[in-house]
Amino acid sequence: MASEKTLFEEDIANQKNEKPAPKRRRTADEMATKQREISVSEFFTKNRHLLGFDSPLKSLLTAVKEAVDNSLDACEEAGILPELLVEIQQVNEKHYRMIVEDNGPGVVKEQIGKIFGKLLYGSKFHKLSQSRGQQGIGISAAGMYGQLTTGKPVRIVSRTSARKKPIEIFMGIDTAKNKPEIHSEENIEWDKKHGTRIEIEMEAKHQKGVRSIDMYLKQTAIANPHLTLHYIAPGEEKITYERNVRVLPPETEEIKPHPHGVELGRLIAMLKNTNCRSLSGFLQEEFCRVGPKVAKNIISGAAAGLTEKSYPTRIARGAASSLHDSIQAAKISSPPTTCIAPIGEELILKGLKKEIEADFYVAATRPASVYRGNPFLIEAGIAYGKPGGVGLEVEEESGRIKKRKSKVDVTQDLVGAGDDPARLLRFANRVPLQYQQSACAINKGIIGTNWKSYGLTQPRGSLPIAPMVIFVHIASVWVPFTSESKEAIASYDEILKEIKLALRECGRKLGIHIRKGKRIKREFDKRSHIEKYIPHIGVALQDILDLTNDDRDNTVETLEDVLHKSRKF
Ligand SMILES: Nc1ncnc2c1ncn2[C@@H]1O[C@H](COP(=O)(O)OP(=O)(O)O)[C@@H](O)[C@H]1O
Ligand SMILES: [Mg+2]
Repeated sequence: MASEKTLFEEDIANQKNEKPAPKRRRTADEMATKQREISVSEFFTKNRHLLGFDSPLKSLLTAVKEAVDNSLDACEEAGILPELLVEIQQVNEKHYRMIVEDNGPGVVKEQIGKIFGKLLYGSKFHKLSQSRGQQGIGISAAGMYGQLTTGKPVRIVSRTSARKKPIEIFMGIDTAKNKPEIHSEENIEWDKKHGTRIEIEMEAKHQKGVRSIDMYLKQTAIANPHLTLHYIAPGEEKITYERNVRVLPPETEEIKPHPHGVELGRLIAMLKNTNCRSLSGFLQEEFCRVGPKVAKNIISGAAAGLTEKSYPTRIARGAASSLHDSIQAAKISSPPTTCIAPIGEELILKGLKKEIEADFYVAATRPASVYRGNPFLIEAGIAYGKPGGVGLEVEEESGRIKKRKSKVDVTQDLVGAGDDPARLLRFANRVPLQYQQSACAINKGIIGTNWKSYGLTQPRGSLPIAPMVIFVHIASVWVPFTSESKEAIASYDEILKEIKLALRECGRKLGIHIRKGKRIKREFDKRSHIEKYIPHIGVALQDILDLTNDDRDNTVETLEDVLHKSRKF
């Protein structure tokens, strides 16, 4: 009845000519009884796809990736040349066991629980430095997925020095509390002097191919030439990727945030939490590239009565906003780039040559640049070849052009066939990225590059069509992933620009190689044509000039020599 409807309901009902909305069923008080905190573990158990644990196939790869990332980060931080073992064992039709063992510094007993059994717990989130992990959810999420799908605890073995006993811990996660649940803890024998071994059983699928663990490890070996990696796939022999170099990547410094990269909310939180007693001191202490002069400029540029002596914790929101504007407007030099370690052109080439058979290789490392106040650096490499096809080659000794089988092994999964799009190898802080290629800035940078000008075919809005592998690495103190599963790089303008510049450097050299190849091919075709007729000319000359058979053969040989010696390249 009209009298029972509110004006608003009546209005809507009239407008839509529909029934009025149903009466309220619950009160705010009743609802309040259902409102409670959500633990981060519960959140990520329900949303495990956000962390890369959606399909059984992907989950196994994600777990291996998280463990390998951690092992490499830990070895490098401890100054140890990494030697890793990755083993996948099939437990039954649906369950697999992942084992990752390293020769790193180990984890102290008291920390093992939190590291492997608590989400959002780690050493890398709060610092700005180049590392593979950053969120503190990697390995604990893998353990949680294992527990969820098999009910089995995670096994960890760790030893921190030859003088200490190795410890073995079986543990799970209490997801409601986001806390570790230690099932057992005891000292065992272990032949390693120091290191960590983690075993997780999980529902999984194992297969070979483009996004397989095999491919991921191969790419890890390319981007980490200082790593020796042993891999045992289910039911297979151990394979080993030997290290290319015996030095660790240069140690990178941790940096403070750059003022231009700080958002207003973060600035307010920093002001609230600082121990500094003056605004000038705060700016100099908490940020990089701010000295007394820059601090003075920033503060005088801000309205709202701020002075160098203003007490940071008492700065109100309005004043903070004005300070933020002034920071953005101030001239501040770019952040230091000593915090980034590129792989370097030489090692990229070495890595590509070792793992990918191709005819031509090129690499380029760009100088560091900055997005949102975070230093980053792009490097690119190309391996180009003709899989399965016949190539042309200049024979070194005789200078003759000859046909030869291409070096490229067609069974190699990394290089596609000649009419396939180029294959991409994407890396962030030396970690291969396997999924979400089309959402990634690297993919966009490649599509946005004009490969036709380097002699390749490229359909509009697509990757170039060529038997080639394009390698792109972004190194940064904070890699802007599009999600927590760390699969694709966000498309900041600065990052896209640098990707294109790196590709252009490689592309130009590739273009020269391809053009040279085309010239050789044209000349080869013409020569083959003429070569076919030379014996006939010999016979014709013999006929006209009454030559002996020997003279005829000598003439044919001379003509063939002239043809080959006159080649232009
Ligand atoms: N194999 C390992 N050796 C030594 N320390 C490790 C190892 N794995 C993990 N850690 C420590 O545990 C922390 C948590 O790891 P993780 O959950 O993957 O988060 P993140 O790598 O993002 O920091 C790391 O920051 C590191 O300090
Ligand atoms: Mg990690």
